[in-house]
Amino acid sequence: MQQAEMTQRENWRSRFGFIMAAAGSAIGLGNIWRFPYLTGEHGGSAFIIIYLLCIVFVGLGIMIGEFAVGRKTSLAAVGAYKTQNRSWTFAGALGVLSGFFIMGFYPVVGGWSLAYMVKSITGLLTVPEAIGDFFGAFVSAPVEPLFWMILYLAINVLIVAKGVAEGIEAAGKVLMPTLFLLLIFIIFRSVSLPGAGSGLSFLFMPDWSKVSGNTLLAALGQAFFSLSLGMGCMITYGSYLSKKENIPQNALTVVTMDTLAALMAAVAIFPALFAFGMEPAQGPGLVFVVVPTIFAQMGALGPLFSVIFFAALTVAALTSSLSLLEVVVAYLIDERKMERKKATYIASTVMAIMCILSSLSMGTLAGVKLFGVGFFDFFDILTDKIFLAIGGMLLAIFVGWFMKKEDLKNELTNDGTISFGLFELWYNLIKYVIPLAIFVVAFMGIAAIEQTSLMLFGIFIILALMVFSKKL
Ligand code: TRP
Repeated sequence: MQQAEMTQRENWRSRFGFIMAAAGSAIGLGNIWRFPYLTGEHGGSAFIIIYLLCIVFVGLGIMIGEFAVGRKTSLAAVGAYKTQNRSWTFAGALGVLSGFFIMGFYPVVGGWSLAYMVKSITGLLTVPEAIGDFFGAFVSAPVEPLFWMILYLAINVLIVAKGVAEGIEAAGKVLMPTLFLLLIFIIFRSVSLPGAGSGLSFLFMPDWSKVSGNTLLAALGQAFFSLSLGMGCMITYGSYLSKKENIPQNALTVVTMDTLAALMAAVAIFPALFAFGMEPAQGPGLVFVVVPTIFAQMGALGPLFSVIFFAALTVAALTSSLSLLEVVVAYLIDERKMERKKATYIASTVMAIMCILSSLSMGTLAGVKLFGVGFFDFFDILTDKIFLAIGGMLLAIFVGWFMKKEDLKNELTNDGTISFGLFELWYNLIKYVIPLAIFVVAFMGIAAIEQTSLMLFGIFIILALMVFSKKL
């Protein structure tokens, strides 16, 4: 008997609601904060092209796979793997751990965004020349960013504790469209600045000399991060998806929206950045410096637009971190039989502690290093450069080699009632091409990266999970 018939799982209220929630999970700080600064650090359009290849040939296939596994089992990550094959429990566990670790730094940046929204109202960001220093001073302060991070996390807790349909769905529906509108507005503003042209050529004329194994891994990791893949997040969301929905089509819509959002963010930022003569490789401060500068130069209406932008960014971040928290909470509910509220409080308390360390690593604790990096980078690199890619590889191997082809075909065609013409192509991608591609890229990246000991530590954790996850 199918799991779904036994457990009557809560479903998304509507198709639009599901797309918005899944796109809401995907579109977040990854697109608007992270993608532009990685593009800046890795030399512009060559990085973008590699990123797009990762999206088309790896990301889309894995998203279809995650939705299919989730809906077939009607269970969140750990349970989904476990019911299909007991010795794969560790792959689900790795996902939950990744969610935990991402939530060890994501709310810190979410808190910055929230703070910038409020600071824009009070007019603190109006002097263009001071904006860069302001960012540096703000994030390295010992107390203030902690306050915003806790506030940000508290909003997550409130929504997740209420359950799936009312909370996550309602938030996504209104606020995602707002974000798109705002990005369009900023793009117009940015490309019409004098000197914007060199920003556009940075984005569209590839410089292949900047590409190394490290670039490939960064692009692959970013593809997973941005699409919320490789940690069972989309398995969990798929588990709430109605049996009538067309999985490949939904996946394509989500992937397209996410990619559009990232590209739009880059087109919004780089023309203005070059017009202002700023440095493209300035790292995590990029959005928080360039966008306020654009607005500060707009005169009286600037602060208003700034408030709306950071409100939209905060909400985009929220719909993503909600999904991360949800993965951990869903695990505690499904596998540990915990009550939803209790699970949410316990998970978020641990996350808050990790975030405090991450935030302080920008200033007070800058000298404390784990495997050669501060806490913020520790959680970031460990998840984005190792866990997500390996999690994605495991999912592909699991789907390709441990599930029945017939079952997959039935799941993706709703038992033959709809057609999925590219099934064979998808199946071969996920069975052969994707696992191999990830393996090669991960290997080249690990060889090229400076943080070798951190990489080895990550691999050690994965091996330890394989040994100990039988109890989960
Ligand atoms: N995709 C989100 C972003 O771009 C972050 C995120 C949410 C995520 N859920 C995830 C990343 C699951 C990896 C896995 O901001």
